[in-house]
Amino acid sequence: MSVKPEAHEKTGEFRHKTTVLTLAEKRQRGEPITMLTAYDYPTAKLVDEAGIDAILVGDSLAMVVLGQTNTLSVTMEEMLHHARAVSRGAKRALLIGDMPFMSYQSDPAWAVRNAGRFLQEAGMEAVKLEGGRAFAETARAIVRAGIPVQGHIGLTPQSVNALGGWRVQGRSAPAAKALVEDALALEDAGCFSLVLESIPEGLAAHITERIAIPTIGIGAGARTNGQVLVIHDLLGLFDRFTPKFAKRYGELGQAMTAAVRAYREEVEARAFPAREHTYAMSDVEWREFLTLMADPLPNPVKESRR
Ligand code: KIV
Repeated sequence: MSVKPEAHEKTGEFRHKTTVLTLAEKRQRGEPITMLTAYDYPTAKLVDEAGIDAILVGDSLAMVVLGQTNTLSVTMEEMLHHARAVSRGAKRALLIGDMPFMSYQSDPAWAVRNAGRFLQEAGMEAVKLEGGRAFAETARAIVRAGIPVQGHIGLTPQSVNALGGWRVQGRSAPAAKALVEDALALEDAGCFSLVLESIPEGLAAHITERIAIPTIGIGAGARTNGQVLVIHDLLGLFDRFTPKFAKRYGELGQAMTAAVRAYREEVEARAFPAREHTYAMSDVEWREFLTLMADPLPNPVKESRR
């Protein structure tokens, strides 16, 4: 059964719903796959309207939206809350919920249950989890439940403490070989796609050639099947820490500060609100109102004591 194309709200253009099969087909045709994060309704709507293939409700939420120093503290409930908002905003992109720290690490049955919540309670269509061979059986269990899984290897931020910081991974020959083994194990487990984060470009290209599922790179060079960025990095909305791979396509942070400053200055100068932002009453109603107000108002305290 094919999914009915939806007319774009503004342009009327017809676009097919993106599914895991769409990504596989794009890989097959050699067409780059685009993916971005989003965490709320308006951003998801804009990303979707811009024609991005997949939206990840990333656990980077913890850092770029909730102000935490890493991704470890974000909970399943917080992820679901934001995922629900994203699913209301996006009509066409494939929607992927990022499994937060401790939502899948302890045992596969717990992982399946939490993965299911993303689909059942938040309108997601797939989930992503971090980790290689150690989590292949967990990924397999989720796939067996009918839930598409995207793997994520290389720099896996939930393991930042074990990795000793935010470091490029797979730079030594044995570490690179281990990542190839991780990729093969996740492909074998049934993952539909694989995120490669912060690894050398040659290694990412090697993995992309060795496996038959789409690779999506972030800090992995140009020879993957697709690219993903954190939207706050792309838009210039997150200043605390900008990785080398995060290209800024806009300066919305500066634009927002300028707009807020202009608002403050206009309020302080009594220039806002102007006439066009103000409601009025007809002269007749106003005169009647003044007449009504000329009579003493009942005192509610005294009235209630009678
Ligand atoms: O949480 C996130 O934003 C991610 C991307 C960096 C892939 O996992």
